[in-house]
Amino acid sequence: MRPLIAGNWKMYKSASEVRFFCEEIQKKIGQLSVDLAIFPQAVHLPLFSTIFTATKQNHFFWGPQNIHYKEMGAFTGELSPLAAKEFGSEMVIIGHSERRQFFGETNTSAAERALGAITFGLQPIFCVGETLEEREANRTMEVIDQQLAPLFSLVKEPSSSFSIAYEPVWAIGTGKTATALQAQEVQQQIRKRIESSWGKENAAKCRILYGGSVKPENAKEILSQPDVDGALVGGASLEVGSFLSIAAAANQ
Ligand code: 13P
Repeated sequence: MRPLIAGNWKMYKSASEVRFFCEEIQKKIGQLSVDLAIFPQAVHLPLFSTIFTATKQNHFFWGPQNIHYKEMGAFTGELSPLAAKEFGSEMVIIGHSERRQFFGETNTSAAERALGAITFGLQPIFCVGETLEEREANRTMEVIDQQLAPLFSLVKEPSSSFSIAYEPVWAIGTGKTATALQAQEVQQQIRKRIESSWGKENAAKCRILYGGSVKPENAKEILSQPDVDGALVGGASLEVGSFLSIAAAANQ
């Protein structure tokens, strides 16, 4: 399966910094042997479509960090999947732990957004993961099962490029990475859950990404695990050099 290295820019970068990154990466990506995606603040999506219009690579994608599940309506402050698509978005992050922690996203609302994404033709990256307290209480898979349950009941058939990102909350922005073995252990279980709900073929097609303090120094080990099909990178995706080093590690 072709790995996906995705950069979640969260609430970082000014327009001129976005432009600088895009122009730099455009010079350096050449023929990509992995899929690359960037998730900027939604207001910066038009910059991506402008800069990459003439030079869009098949394997370079962008999209928002969240979307509403309806195409339009009286939902102040939300983003329509169709508006995101107007600016070339092909993917979207759904249910990130920061959305859950700070903005009241629930397992059900995340599942609804994933269904909305599929309905309107965006490829979701659906995030799951446990807190440190939950891991220490040996509740990791119980929590992930709860996060996945509404998704499996609402989405009967995933889109061809559905991704699930395992992002242990304790590893996000903390510099603490799950060991390659910890990531593999959980991601193997996630693949089994996909298989029992969506079948063997979809389980083999769904990409399962790892996220949480992925850096050029640890990427290779994590990405070499059989059930790690890519990475969702925060801090280290903000700089072209480190983002591309992670992409290179996925390729080895
Ligand atoms: P960091 O790579 O900064 O830990 O962030 C991970 C993340 O939240 C990606 O979605």
